[in-house]
Amino acid sequence: MPVYIVFLGPPGAGKGTQASLLAQRMGLPHVATGDILRDAVSRGTELGLRAKGYMDRGELVPNELVVNIVIERLSQPDAGTGAVLDGFPRSMGQAVALEKALAERGAAVNLAIYIEVSEPELVKRLSGRWECRSCGAVYHEVTNPPRAAEVCDRCGSGLSQRSDDRPETVRRRLQVYLEQTAPLLDYYVGKGILAKVDGERPIDDVTAGIAAVVAAKGFGTR
Ligand code: AP5
Repeated sequence: MPVYIVFLGPPGAGKGTQASLLAQRMGLPHVATGDILRDAVSRGTELGLRAKGYMDRGELVPNELVVNIVIERLSQPDAGTGAVLDGFPRSMGQAVALEKALAERGAAVNLAIYIEVSEPELVKRLSGRWECRSCGAVYHEVTNPPRAAEVCDRCGSGLSQRSDDRPETVRRRLQVYLEQTAPLLDYYVGKGILAKVDGERPIDDVTAGIAAVVAAKGFGTR
């Protein structure tokens, strides 16, 4: 049976960092809606043009632009054994749409991992974040710096900072998270599949905490 793991947590909690590592270890694709949308913005596609304003304001991009893209991505051959989802679902409507799409192929979300981090720490993390647009690797100038400034360790491309990491947009993203995404925690508690991980520890410790949760569920890693 395919395995679907969802990462939940506020902006800057470390979802991208950890989802990418877990996906590699499980041999599953890392499906990150933020990355898909930023790629569309940088390529100037119709999706990107329509999504950009919402992203710059820290608002959720409307469901009609996001949901089908994810469902379509999950039907690609490399997702035949499942996927690690990062940034989706982010509202009740998205959670229900995902559940319906997976049920149609006899599957379901198996595990929702909630990375818990306090607000002051989130603000620190987002203000020091650097990203690789080519391979998606994420760095922090203090806690997780690249070996050479502004150059990706993994693929050698240049690093950049995200336009929605400005302080006023970060505040709005946190507010949107609390209003629209945090209710999903109770939703997945109700399904008996929510696992909470303390995300305020060093990256390797958080990775180990997640590995323990995944192993306890009996899912294999490489
Ligand atoms: P998205 O890209 O998903 O952003 P987000 O959820 O706000 O999360 P972030 O990517 O900011 O943080 P993260 O939790 O992944 O943390 P990271 O690992 O980078 O979405 C962006 C926008 O796209 C949204 O605002 C919305 O407009 C739109 N969008 C996306 N999905 C959507 C959807 N489903 N529906 C509608 N709209 C959607 O880590 C952060 C920093 O901290 C890094 O520098 C990292 O190196 C560092 N760090 C990580 N872990 C640790 C640690 N343990 N200790 C110290 N530093 C750490």
